[in-house]
Amino acid sequence: MSREGASGVGPLPILAVGRLVKRFGGFHALDGVGFTLHAGEILGLVGPNGSGKTTCINVISGIYRPDGGRVLLDGRPAGGLPSHRLVHLGINRTFQVPKPFLAFTVRENVELAVAYGRDPTTRMSSSPSSASRI
Ligand SMILES: Nc1ncnc2c1ncn2[C@@H]1O[C@H](COP(=O)(O)OP(=O)(O)O)[C@@H](O)[C@H]1O
Ligand SMILES: [Mg+2]
Repeated sequence: MSREGASGVGPLPILAVGRLVKRFGGFHALDGVGFTLHAGEILGLVGPNGSGKTTCINVISGIYRPDGGRVLLDGRPAGGLPSHRLVHLGINRTFQVPKPFLAFTVRENVELAVAYGRDPTTRMSSSPSSASRI
């Protein structure tokens, strides 16, 4: 899995992953993965079971720390940051099995996600109106 972007040409990618390595013991689940993602682009990871797609997402979203390589978000290092910090920089992940708060309405679930999203300074004031836009 490798798709290196052209270096130094064109606009800064939103996400740049380079030579990413993740090991589980002696097993290399990721061994030099690289790709870039630009604004407006949709990028899919495709591969057989066990090829490292979920591990790649888990490293980028802060669930696992990388053992090597880099993750740049808007040009700034983001590799190894925990999920609760990455969410404020604009990275989060969803899971195949949704886990909404069942005691909340759909709107309240959206409001909660917005409140803990990118901008913590507007946490209490902006969530209802932001949720309406969503
Ligand atoms: N927490 C873990 N501990 C040990 N091995 C793991 C762990 N997570 C994934 N792996 C191994 O890493 C490889 C890649 O797994 P994964 O990223 O789930 O692949 P995919 O999502 O492409 O099916 C597999 O061989 C898997 O068994
Ligand atoms: Mg998977």
